[in-house]
Amino acid sequence: MRVLNDPSTSADINGIGLNIVFDNYPCNPNLQSLWGFACLIEMAGQTILFDTGSNGRVLVQNMKKMGLDSASLDMLFVSHPHWDHIGGIDSVIELAPHLEMVAPDSLSKFYLQDLRGAVRKLSVIDGKPAKIGENLYSTGVMGEVGEQALVIDMATGLVVITGCAHAGIEKVAARAREMLGRDISLLMGGFHLSHHDHAALEEIADSLKSHGVRRLCPTHCSGDLARRMFAASFGAFYLDGGVGRKVS
Ligand SMILES: [Fe+2]
Ligand SMILES: [Fe+2]
Repeated sequence: MRVLNDPSTSADINGIGLNIVFDNYPCNPNLQSLWGFACLIEMAGQTILFDTGSNGRVLVQNMKKMGLDSASLDMLFVSHPHWDHIGGIDSVIELAPHLEMVAPDSLSKFYLQDLRGAVRKLSVIDGKPAKIGENLYSTGVMGEVGEQALVIDMATGLVVITGCAHAGIEKVAARAREMLGRDISLLMGGFHLSHHDHAALEEIADSLKSHGVRRLCPTHCSGDLARRMFAASFGAFYLDGGVGRKVS
């Protein structure tokens, strides 16, 4: 399943396309990697941008080089208020002012007020899980940072995308599974595990499996050791992330 030097990977996720357009890990050498995360999701009938990385100029350039049209975005989903996830918001809205934005209530209320006037529709998510579109859900805002994850309900299982998973990646997986009663076909994004040791990571890998996670793609703030250990633990069901990675 892992093809070295090929940015395209198959993950049996029923025709949706996930494109990592901003990441501190490299994958496609023609793109710029900077600290942060953003993923463009192509689904039947809609295109969603999950987070915006730290820098709008680099985000837009990366999308362009990947052949992705930023003006055609229908939705911008923002996970949490950290700089490395919200830095490109302004650039994205400038290119696609007609989009719907789904933001956590942990963003500054003054920022939310300004954003409301800048996009077609702004939905602000609180601590409760919420349906935000056809087969699309937010886990609701979790933890002290106030972070939401995106859940896509597909025939083959759930696709869950996290920004940093500050509340704990197992808690995010558990909530997604509990919300919809289905296993997780793919868990992708920042897992925030760079300070965890070998023993703790082994427990987390087991815990994710017990929460019904079949495949994972840990990137951004997941940590090098976590990526190596999960690659060994999940084998062919581990996917490498990095900017330019395409998973479908
Ligand atoms: Fe982050
Ligand atoms: Fe963060």
